[in-house]
Amino acid sequence: MLKLGIFEAGCYPGQARGPLGWLRRNRFAYTLLKTSLPPKPEEIVVFERIMRQMKLTSGVHRMTARNRFADLDEWAQPILQRRLAGRPAIQVEDWAASACLTSLEWHQRLEEAFPRFHLTASDLTLYLVALEVPGDGIYVLETGGGLLQYIRPPFAIRIEPPEPRLLIVNRVLAERARRRLKRIWRELGAGPDLEPGLLTLPEGTDEKPLGAMRLTRLPLVHPEALALANLAPESFAIRGHSVFTPAPAPADVVRTMNILNRVYFDEARLLEGARSVWHSLRPGGIWMVGRTVRERPPEHRVSVFEKTAEGFRLIERYGGPSEIEEMALALRP
Ligand SMILES: C[S@@+](CC[C@H](N)C(=O)[O-])C[C@H]1O[C@@H](n2cnc3c(N)ncnc32)[C@H](O)[C@@H]1O
Repeated sequence: MLKLGIFEAGCYPGQARGPLGWLRRNRFAYTLLKTSLPPKPEEIVVFERIMRQMKLTSGVHRMTARNRFADLDEWAQPILQRRLAGRPAIQVEDWAASACLTSLEWHQRLEEAFPRFHLTASDLTLYLVALEVPGDGIYVLETGGGLLQYIRPPFAIRIEPPEPRLLIVNRVLAERARRRLKRIWRELGAGPDLEPGLLTLPEGTDEKPLGAMRLTRLPLVHPEALALANLAPESFAIRGHSVFTPAPAPADVVRTMNILNRVYFDEARLLEGARSVWHSLRPGGIWMVGRTVRERPPEHRVSVFEKTAEGFRLIERYGGPSEIEEMALALRP
């Protein structure tokens, strides 16, 4: 048993239909993450399909779905208006924003209520890289070195999550790709821990050579969010950032949805995240933290806190308490 791949956005969904459609179904080459500016509708469809399937080597998913937070945004809007009335220009941070599609939708809603605001959407991982090896294929990697996919048309081989046992050909190719990549790093003189920066691309750079090979940026940010950041930099920006590091400038609102969860982090790390939010907020600033407990229809459990000199004070809840509500209330900065 084997599966092939889809390499052109224009060929989807045609190639995934018909009697042989299963051969290519759910096997998009991640090189399709790179879209035109402005993006074509078929490129957006494929980007969103890939995001639904993608799992990083850390085990974290990159979910993105339109209107996922529509109800939450609507509910939160009057609270923000009430609490932030009188502030001249509000600074909003959406942390761990994944593909930033929900940030883009939040931006649209904030526009209705705030004449002056700036929303920064951030995530630890904003892009992958495609390592093109002449005479071999393309290795799709996280910037830390984690291998997600190996592309050698007609195959787009999934490495993470691993191919099912029944896809024997894909599993053999995946194993070969892992071995070859190790050899490539050895030939480059890189140790098992790749030197930091080897696979990163400077801001504004989409490609760089690596010996005889080439690295290309594959954005993990939704093409529509990229287009907005390009079009309206005065009110929307996207940047790389970890939730464990305070924001570079004081914020009025920080939202951390589906990241400060016990499935991902232990108590000490969650406390570190909460402390980082506290240090990022202005006095009286607002922290929305929560988790989506059901996808269809979306159902969230969100706690909304106000920053005080002593820590956080609970002001509202949506759908039930966040699983880290007690911990956040006990935090003493
Ligand atoms: C499950 S997604 C949540 C996306 C979005 N907030 C939502 O609820 O739809 C988790 C995201 O957290 C990001 N992430 C993981 N560790 C992070 C960290 N230390 N700092 C910032 N983002 C992180 C991942 O890259 C991923 O995009």
